[in-house]
Amino acid sequence: MFPSDVYLNRRNRLRSKINNGIILLPGNCDAPMNYAGNTYHFRQDSSFLYFFGINQPDLAGVLDVDSGEDILFGNDVDMDDIIWMGPQPLMSERAALAGVRKTLPLSEILAYLNRQIKLGRRIHYLPPYRAQTTIQLSSWLGIAVDAVKNYSSEELIKGVVSLREIKDSGEITEIEAMVNVAREMHVSAMKLAKPGTIEREVAGTIEGIALQKAAGVSFPVILSINGQTLHNHYHGNIMHEGRMMVADAGCESEMNYCSDITRTVPVGGKFSPRQKSIYEIVLNANKKAIEAIKPGIFYRDVHILACTVIAEGLKELGIMKGDAGAAVAAGAHALFMPHGLGHMMGLDVHDMENLGENYVGYDHEISRSNQFGLAFLRLGKRLREGFVLTVEPGIYFIPALIDQWKQEKLHTEFIDYDKVETFKDFGGIRIEDDILVTESGCRVLGNPIPKEVSEIEAIMQ
Ligand code: GLY
Repeated sequence: MFPSDVYLNRRNRLRSKINNGIILLPGNCDAPMNYAGNTYHFRQDSSFLYFFGINQPDLAGVLDVDSGEDILFGNDVDMDDIIWMGPQPLMSERAALAGVRKTLPLSEILAYLNRQIKLGRRIHYLPPYRAQTTIQLSSWLGIAVDAVKNYSSEELIKGVVSLREIKDSGEITEIEAMVNVAREMHVSAMKLAKPGTIEREVAGTIEGIALQKAAGVSFPVILSINGQTLHNHYHGNIMHEGRMMVADAGCESEMNYCSDITRTVPVGGKFSPRQKSIYEIVLNANKKAIEAIKPGIFYRDVHILACTVIAEGLKELGIMKGDAGAAVAAGAHALFMPHGLGHMMGLDVHDMENLGENYVGYDHEISRSNQFGLAFLRLGKRLREGFVLTVEPGIYFIPALIDQWKQEKLHTEFIDYDKVETFKDFGGIRIEDDILVTESGCRVLGNPIPKEVSEIEAIMQ
């Protein structure tokens, strides 16, 4: 955990953003895998972590906006727990680490909240994303389960986003350490990408590194020689020359700060001329986007810049045609890059996505497009110093999408479908880095992770 005053300050700053009432922040519970006692790996709620820092199930935090009081609801362990889990700190000791003086048993939260409701006080809570939390909120607040989300507090969502989106130096240190572990994961993956290797041998090795050097992966490892499927979690293919291995993987720290890196390498370690020609376009888009990042610029414009670099590169190869800017404005490039350039990252790999992507990535200045491709851009708003985000352009040849667009004769003025046909067996490429927006520009977090063709070929020798 950070020092207790970090959490105290965060809670006081959150209070200052809310008019009045009670802020209720439930932590997560253990979730059963196949029976109650056999649970998934415990993952604390990220907003609870941000304001209370305690990585333990069955807690709820309350901030009284008007009196300034904080209460942590949770139970001390009993003898059964001690027998199975060993001695545990008292609730009061855990709470002190977060700068909270008052603790109460979890069973008292219902009566506490009832008193506040009877006094006519507003209870602010965030939209729940887990069934168990939804049920808790339903029973604590007397709201029907299927209506719980509707009564979540927009004022609280906006307040939490405004704090969590700006990373302080302690958070940046945590994230950067995780990028450095991700570097080890990716360099190891590159060295293992040899003909005859099964994808799961590589995926398992890099997940092992995340467990050895960090607190595990920040999302399930994406690793495949079929990179044209954007999030491919199937790891049963045997690698062979002619394919490229996309590895999209990161890890999280003990305090749950994340990294998220993608590298794409040729199986066997040597780029063919065709692979190199597509790879260099994606790399150029990645670098041009990073060069453009600075406070004040709309991330949507950085996305458009990266897409234009891709359209220009594909035009040089005869895959696209016409004016690259006009092609991107029309959305024709999205046949090859049907996703957004990146997303915020922090305590969640897609930071705060559970609060609503449009609250995190868009604001009063800019709203989400509904054009295919651009609509999937999670972050479009102006960048600010302290944002941490991903830059992850890609080029994919998705046979089913190509067939559909070709049949519908979509964007024929910008796409040479005969040429595209010759790439249908190519797969996909994505190159992703984690970026901190600084006062005057940006910084790629972590030690450099090989991405130049020559660096990758040298490592894979
Ligand atoms: N890197 C996985 C994702 O952004 O969803």
